[in-house]
Amino acid sequence: MAQIAPAPPAPAQPGAVQSASEFPVPAPPFSANVFPCTGCHDPNLTVNTERRVLRKAHTDIQLRHDEQHRWCLDCHNADNRDVLRSAAGEPIPFAESYRLCGQCHGDKYRDWRAGIHGKRTGEWDGQKSYLLCIHCHNPHTPRFKAVEPMPAPVRAGRVK
Ligand code: HEC
Ligand code: HEC
Ligand code: HEC
Ligand code: HEC
Repeated sequence: MAQIAPAPPAPAQPGAVQSASEFPVPAPPFSANVFPCTGCHDPNLTVNTERRVLRKAHTDIQLRHDEQHRWCLDCHNADNRDVLRSAAGEPIPFAESYRLCGQCHGDKYRDWRAGIHGKRTGEWDGQKSYLLCIHCHNPHTPRFKAVEPMPAPVRAGRVK
């Protein structure tokens, strides 16, 4: 039987959790220079929680995701912008954004965990890698412009 080299420790990724995640994923695909969000969103400043048209930043973001019932801060944590938040207000790291999506899309979340929806690579009984929901779906306008799924990450030093 072929020897499988142990996977090297995961590199430090922006927004990644420190502990080994239950579902290994590539780094969240942030645009350049946007993370850490707290670089601009100083936690000591008061947050404008009002729904409004943003003019000073993020003007490229159009919210078309059940927007009649939703504002940015239903998903983004107002107190610490470097993490998301669950409906109950619990912080969720960006590397685990599937937990946020799964709160409302429970059927897709279940299928994704089982490797039926989305994309999972790896050994059937060993190391697996999942693409995050947001690698394929824009969290702000999920119905439009389905993006090409990104290739699975290549881990250095891995024996095929
Ligand atoms: C349905 C939940 C949800 C809502 C509502 C939402 N976001 Fe997001 N947003 C996300 C998730 C999830 C990501 C993470 C993308 C990633 O991991 O790369 C994200 C990413 C971002 C980013 C980083 C984008 C980049 O280019 O890398 C910014 C900035 C942002 N959101 C701002 C906003 C603003 C402003 C609003 C309101 C107009 C908003 N978001 C509403 C879920 C949401
Ligand atoms: C270059 C500075 C900068 C960075 C980096 C940045 N933001 Fe912002 N963000 C702003 C400014 C300025 C506003 C207020 C815009 C307005 O009122 O028109 C804002 C507003 C927001 C809002 C709307 C609610 C609020 O607090 O006013 C969300 C949500 C948000 N940002 C999320 C993010 C997330 C998530 C990231 C990191 C992925 C991020 N931002 C990174 C400057 C930044
Ligand atoms: C608070 C509940 C909620 C959360 C959290 C949420 N969604 Fe949604 N989502 C909805 C609702 C409601 C709709 C249908 C209305 C709409 O499309 O505007 C929807 C629509 C969608 C669609 C389009 C479905 C279609 O019919 O084409 C996709 C894809 C999607 N969401 C993905 C995501 C992803 C990815 C996340 C995590 C970043 C997420 N959602 C988080 C409630 C949610
Ligand atoms: C590899 C890319 C990929 C990943 C990862 C992925 N999806 Fe999808 N998703 C798709 C495609 C393609 C469709 C449209 C075809 C279909 O219905 O299966 C879709 C459809 C959907 C729909 C609309 C289905 C409908 O009934 O019309 C929802 C909601 C959704 N995905 C949520 C999620 C959530 C939540 C996750 C993460 C837990 C996720 N997706 C992960 C590619 C992906």
